[in-house]
Amino acid sequence: MRAKIIGTGSCLPDRSVTNDYLSTIMDTNDQWIQSRTGIRERHLVSSQQETTLSLAVNAAKAALTDSGLLPEQIDLILVATVSSDYITPSAACMVQKELGAHRAVSFDINAACSGFLFALNTVDAYFQAGIYQTALIIGVETLSKIIDWSDRSTCVLFGDGAGAVVAKASEGGMIASLQGSDGTGGDILTCKNRTNNNPFVSTDANPDYLYMNGQEVFKFAVKKVPECIQSLLEQAGEDASHVTYYLLHQANYRIIASIARKLKLPIEKFPSNVDHCGNTSAASIPILLDEIHKEGKLSEGDLIVLSGFGAGLTWGAALLQW
Ligand code: ACO
Repeated sequence: MRAKIIGTGSCLPDRSVTNDYLSTIMDTNDQWIQSRTGIRERHLVSSQQETTLSLAVNAAKAALTDSGLLPEQIDLILVATVSSDYITPSAACMVQKELGAHRAVSFDINAACSGFLFALNTVDAYFQAGIYQTALIIGVETLSKIIDWSDRSTCVLFGDGAGAVVAKASEGGMIASLQGSDGTGGDILTCKNRTNNNPFVSTDANPDYLYMNGQEVFKFAVKKVPECIQSLLEQAGEDASHVTYYLLHQANYRIIASIARKLKLPIEKFPSNVDHCGNTSAASIPILLDEIHKEGKLSEGDLIVLSGFGAGLTWGAALLQW
């Protein structure tokens, strides 16, 4: 049995922040941001009521409604995030409590922008092993709290949000998947901020925020993602042209366009929401999936490739039938 997605949901914070608004609080402008990234606006949490947990729970409730399953029918909850509200309990356990999904084994996965893909692949492996039959998978981030708002080259890129899917063990659904990691490249995208309370360890505990070497991340993404998708399709024995949509991690429209060119595929096969969401890291793929599902763009039997890349370094892809 493989993982078949039977419901999707998403939640963006209420407040949308445009490039023009950012240009009133820092030295930037709409033309620079749009031409380099395709981003026009992003949603950012703007009250203490909007948290990683609240976004995750809203997305999860929408996905459950769409799937027709009740919280108590869920066996497994995986949350992909690097911006959980707490170190412990995990975001997944907090979501479980809020939903009343009392049967669900719940834990988080930290694989940055590849997190949703890694969580989906983990669920698929559990289903193939016959251990669980239903799962709720959430990608959620409130990166706005770990961004360096004095670094204009990174802070303009990111947005907050959550996307969720409900998956069921089925004969159809997931066809092939692969994932990879390269810790030796980890220094190009980091967030080392952790307070050390150990009285026996002296630290120079300066606050540290999300750091990115943008050009290196760009090079990594445009090389690794096409390779990863080509290997995935070879593994499945599937022709790239038969895939209806390629849903890539929404980091930057230039990266998406470059990947489409490298794969020699029309850009129409690469839906994007980076213009109004920015880069929502682990949440970007499930938010995009929910958007195109709700727009009625997916038909039963369509082949879809999902592919993510991010800090770690990590990357992954999955081919599934809708
Ligand atoms: N507004 C205006 N000017 C800016 C801004 C800004 N927000 N940020 C930087 N600049 C300036 C720089 O100061 C520099 O000025 P200078 O030439 O006078 O020194 C100039 O713009 C060019 O800066 P670069 O950093 O060289 O800009 P680049 O063309 O490389 O674009 C970008 C930067 C958009 C980050 C690019 O490297 C990129 O797209 N990288 C991919 C990274 C990415 O998408 N990461 C996503 C997060 S990671 C993940 O999701 C996996």
